[in-house]
Amino acid sequence: MTEDRIICGCNDVHRSTIENAIKDKGLQTSQQIIEELYVRKACGACEDDVREILTEVKGN
Ligand code: FES
Repeated sequence: MTEDRIICGCNDVHRSTIENAIKDKGLQTSQQIIEELYVRKACGACEDDVREILTEVKGN
């Protein structure tokens, strides 16, 4: 099982929150995740991680 680490430290968003939002809300793009969860709104360092998670979840 993957560790539920913080992906966006600026907004305290965990990996599980992003995964659940993709699955439950049917989010299709990183932009939708950004708007829905308020990630990547500050420093932007989490952008690559958000994309990776999206690819992983959609690939399953
Ligand atoms: S880590 Fe997500 S905006 Fe800074």
